[in-house]
Amino acid sequence: MKKSDMTDVIADAARLLKESKKTIALTGAGVSTESGIPDFRSRDGLWSRYDPMEYGTLGAFKRDPEKIWTMLAELMTLVDARPNEGHRAMAKLEELGMLAGIITQNIDSLHQKGGSKKVVEYHGSFDSFTCMQCACSYPLADVRKPDLPPHCSSCHGILKPDIVFFDEQIPPSALSESRDLIHQADLLIVAGTSCQVVPAATIPATVLAQGGKIIEINREPVLNTHAEVILEGSFSQLMSQLVTALHSTQ
Ligand code: OAD
Repeated sequence: MKKSDMTDVIADAARLLKESKKTIALTGAGVSTESGIPDFRSRDGLWSRYDPMEYGTLGAFKRDPEKIWTMLAELMTLVDARPNEGHRAMAKLEELGMLAGIITQNIDSLHQKGGSKKVVEYHGSFDSFTCMQCACSYPLADVRKPDLPPHCSSCHGILKPDIVFFDEQIPPSALSESRDLIHQADLLIVAGTSCQVVPAATIPATVLAQGGKIIEINREPVLNTHAEVILEGSFSQLMSQLVTALHSTQ
């Protein structure tokens, strides 16, 4: 796309934001790749190195937690990642009163580190860990040790991060908070997600069914004609340009 064409598309997206009475966002791993965290389904994504059915289920964790911790240890590096310009631009949008909240599938807490206040962590996070034997809970600070996997200090069971595996339910609090956000939303920003994992992947259809519109920001867009505006490319660049454009569009 020519630069002038992209400027027009960003202006269209800015107009939608200004017209909206309630905008929310659904984000995925693609918003954090520019913070150095691999996504799941791109060519060099996590699932290109680990089979999701072999490593991504609670059943697999219970059978062989040490094996699953080889992948989790790699994921643990995300706790030191820093938010990028896109995370900060989304926080700015909320500060301007133009974003009611974010439903994120990410477990890296980078929206909050970038300044966003209303964030629903649909797939949990690495902020806390639970012992699979006695259900004791531990904050991240207690688990940050060089020797992984971490063990429970009372029963020596192996700890699991409070993230949602494929065969687990979405936390009830995340479900109800996201329902509140989706209620009466007339604009949804879908950013950095391939929209392949349910139930998060049903959120765009829910917003469309209640008469809402969609702005998609993705390196490889997936929503096609369902999106009113598609911004194809880098999340950090496009999200920053979108917030800048809000000052110049009528
Ligand atoms: P995916 O890896 O499936 O999709 C990431 C999307 O972001 C792709 O469409 C990429 O093209 C796009 N992308 C990557 N980098 C980008 C960038 N810098 N700018 C713009 N777009 C970019 O990740 P998710 O959709 O988040 O769940 O995956 C959903 C769920 O599947 C995850 O939460 C995780 C995984 O299995 C569980 O573990 C339960």
